[in-house]
Amino acid sequence: MPAPTILLPQDPLNPRRVDPHYSYESQLVRGLGGETAFVDHDALLAGDAAEGVRRVPLDIGPAWYRGWMLPVTAYAAFGRALAERGCHLLTSAAAYATAHELPGWYSTFEGATPDSVWLSAAHGPAELANAVAKLGGHGPAIVKDFVKSRKHEWHEACFIPELADLPAVAQVVDRFVELQGEFLAGGVVLRRFHAFAPAESVDESEQAIGGGWGRTRRPASGARPLADGERPVGGGQGAGERSDGGPSDGGPAAEARVWWVDGEPVLSGPHPDTPEVFPAPDLTQVRSLVRALGCRFVTTDLALRADGGGWMVVEVGDGQVSDLPRGTEVSGLLSSLIST
Ligand SMILES: Nc1ncnc2c1ncn2[C@@H]1O[C@H](COP(=O)(O)OP(=O)(O)O)[C@@H](O)[C@H]1O
Ligand SMILES: [Mg+2]
Repeated sequence: MPAPTILLPQDPLNPRRVDPHYSYESQLVRGLGGETAFVDHDALLAGDAAEGVRRVPLDIGPAWYRGWMLPVTAYAAFGRALAERGCHLLTSAAAYATAHELPGWYSTFEGATPDSVWLSAAHGPAELANAVAKLGGHGPAIVKDFVKSRKHEWHEACFIPELADLPAVAQVVDRFVELQGEFLAGGVVLRRFHAFAPAESVDESEQAIGGGWGRTRRPASGARPLADGERPVGGGQGAGERSDGGPSDGGPAAEARVWWVDGEPVLSGPHPDTPEVFPAPDLTQVRSLVRALGCRFVTTDLALRADGGGWMVVEVGDGQVSDLPRGTEVSGLLSSLIST
């Protein structure tokens, strides 16, 4: 079997070139002797998958995608259009849905990730009250859809201070649904809130936790952290800066993003939102959960509970559409992809 080609989004302004956000990865893949080909993300999003893959050479065989997020239905059409050209995505549409949308991975990670319930975005008050009751009925929570939160509008459309206050829950959830608009993925998810160790306290945490964190405090790269996996223009999901406080109100949690290929952690680095902090989580439990999930290329975002409860999986993602923080050494990850 030929080595997998890496499919990357083309530059919307110049289809013969790679989208500038992916030029670093493109160069690395080629430097490692790998092949790249370009896809038109705008066309894929617009439902024209044949146009989206028009520049992919015929009969290239296996491929991984590395690019902006796609809704599950668009990914499935992408895979079919590629198959017609003799190219097969190594992550099937079913595997993509499993890793990309919370209901796909939740049951495998239950207990290692915050308790979660989900409901239709078009729910009524009784359905919301029922979901709140299933989550225990009281305490803080967060709201997101099957894929993304609005963490940059933390108080307005993400954080729920108290589940028992149903009118206040409805207000945050309704605002979330309104702001997501037509880009809301799947349905609404409510998750129990846990205070995580914020990025700012990593140095102190090192003392308290006794080596739970890596000693490396990376120099700030200077690059503006892009909202993870989201395209900065178009797609309706702007990459806003955090504007009103944030998770735990101590700044963003210092998450670690671990990249898995065929059940092996091939890269562990900072989360794109906190590229200067590089926690080093214990992966023993997560490894067995990732293997149980059965998807070939995924990411897990891990955060350390501030109450000493250990590491939690904040979210799972499809590795093809997870963002890489600038300045991370990713050759190992890319060579794993082109040698599978
Ligand atoms: N259950 C939770 N408890 C505490 N903080 C959370 C919880 N879920 C999410 N967060 C915080 O909100 C941020 C965004 O949530 P996440 O599920 O990662 O959504 P997104 O897909 O938008 O990144 C996380 O990075 C984390 O800091
Ligand atoms: Mg996240």
